[in-house]
Amino acid sequence: MEFAGKVVIVTGAGMGIGKGIALAFAREGAKVTVADMDLDSARETVKEIKAGGGEAIAVLVNVANSAEVKAMVDETVKCWVTVDILVNNAGIGTSAMVEDMTEEDWRRVIDVNLTGVFLCSKAVLPLMKARKYGKIVNISSTGGKRISYNGGANYTASKEGVIGFTRHLAYETAPYGINVNCICPGATITPLIQRIATPETLEERTRIIPKGRLCNPEDPAKAVLFLASDKAEMICGVALEVDGGSLLGWMDNESYEKKRKKKGASGDDS
Ligand SMILES: NC(=O)c1ccc[n+]([C@@H]2O[C@H](COP(=O)([O-])OP(=O)(O)OC[C@H]3O[C@@H](n4cnc5c(N)ncnc54)[C@H](O)[C@@H]3O)[C@@H](O)[C@H]2O)c1
Repeated sequence: MEFAGKVVIVTGAGMGIGKGIALAFAREGAKVTVADMDLDSARETVKEIKAGGGEAIAVLVNVANSAEVKAMVDETVKCWVTVDILVNNAGIGTSAMVEDMTEEDWRRVIDVNLTGVFLCSKAVLPLMKARKYGKIVNISSTGGKRISYNGGANYTASKEGVIGFTRHLAYETAPYGINVNCICPGATITPLIQRIATPETLEERTRIIPKGRLCNPEDPAKAVLFLASDKAEMICGVALEVDGGSLLGWMDNESYEKKRKKKGASGDDS
């Protein structure tokens, strides 16, 4: 088991992508702190991990609150002595256009998605630096590389911010044996997406994914486990897309082929 004995904190692990990540680490032998502001769902994830023979604890946290973040790390250390891996996954979104966006919505999304990543990373750094070992994997979004499909400018700005923070923190911490990277998932079937997208928008979204399907939480989880593993020892500060190729083109593959084939086999327009 690749992560046997490793201690992992996954924020927002009560459901969705975070839950997929927590389950994947537990299957590989890690001890997992399932941290979430919804304690019932965190307990549910822990129950599933334990049913599969894994080890986990549920911890209540709002990642935007530094005192709660400190308590999350303290509880993990009390239970398992240290923290080897942190996955900053907790995130939220709103979708209003800027002219209609309230200041409160702007601040809330930046607070959770960006300041939360800062606070959680800061809280584990002394432990990781002291042992000269640590992996931090942040969950950005394809929205951080282009614009968010469902979220507003607050979401896009927060996720691009996560990419910049990842790059900078990776630079600061690499000399201390710490790897910091992030992934940019494309549309992933989770309660978040199910809350905000209609079946029509999901279908529309699927059409522009060259791989022909949306992600499941297991897809980003596999990339997170890779970046948190020693296989990724020399990978620092990257923002890895896990999106079935959705950022590659501007149209669906069927329209692309139709357009190209009209030109004839040589690609000559004449
Ligand atoms: N689902 C997608 O299509 C998609 C795509 C790209 C990136 N992401 C990102 O992946 C992450 C997870 O998204 P998801 O779709 O699984 O969301 P989700 O809403 O299904 O689950 C998010 C979890 O985070 C918890 N949470 C929210 N705010 C929190 C806070 N302040 N403190 C602690 N926990 C908090 C929620 O209680 C919930 O359990 C987010 O950062 C999101 O932006 C999602």
